[in-house]
Amino acid sequence: MPTLKVIIASTRPGRVGLPVSQWFVEVAKKAGTFNVEVLDLAEINLPFFDEPNHPAQQMYTKDHTKKWSAQIDSADAFVVVIPEYNFTMPATLLNAFDYLYKEWNYKAVGFVSYGGISGGTRSVQTAKLFMTTFKMMPIYEAVTIPSISQHIKEGKFEATENNEKSAVALLAELAKWTGALQTLRVK
Ligand SMILES: Cc1cc2nc3c(=O)[nH]c(=O)nc-3n(C[C@H](O)[C@H](O)[C@H](O)COP(=O)(O)O)c2cc1C
Repeated sequence: MPTLKVIIASTRPGRVGLPVSQWFVEVAKKAGTFNVEVLDLAEINLPFFDEPNHPAQQMYTKDHTKKWSAQIDSADAFVVVIPEYNFTMPATLLNAFDYLYKEWNYKAVGFVSYGGISGGTRSVQTAKLFMTTFKMMPIYEAVTIPSISQHIKEGKFEATENNEKSAVALLAELAKWTGALQTLRVK
């Protein structure tokens, strides 16, 4: 079974990204199409990009980069659980991507976004733009959660039926692309 890594993009203390990701991980495990792992950018705690060489050379000098490289290299697909900050993606996400290059190539990526009225859609659009430079396939199907604060009860994310359906559709499409892109990832 391919490995899906769920990236929690928010590193903010008290972030709702955590309960949202916990819900999505449960849905993904139940779907049974991927081995599911979590990459929590708060826990991983990468500093601002601090490597001297272009990441495509893979001449990493820092232990945190080597560890991050192995974590991304062993993934077949990603879902980013992403908030919207100032109509764009959180800076933590781009910083985490900039550390590497080849490790991201030819992998599909889906989004679970949340925010105010926009449901994080502006954030997703900005993330999709840079991800294509990494030769990734950002998929159309997505979970979009507007007015996120209304869906958090006692620290837990309460999904709607529509959220559940969207998550299942996202996972099905992600599985298709993951299979198709496998041929391009032969080393
Ligand atoms: C710095 C900052 C900027 C924000 N900008 C937006 C925004 O542009 N659009 C939006 O819908 N929500 C915005 N919000 C509200 C977030 O959607 C809300 O705080 C959400 O809980 C953030 O995700 P997190 O809790 O996982 O960090 C912003 C929040 C912060 C902290």
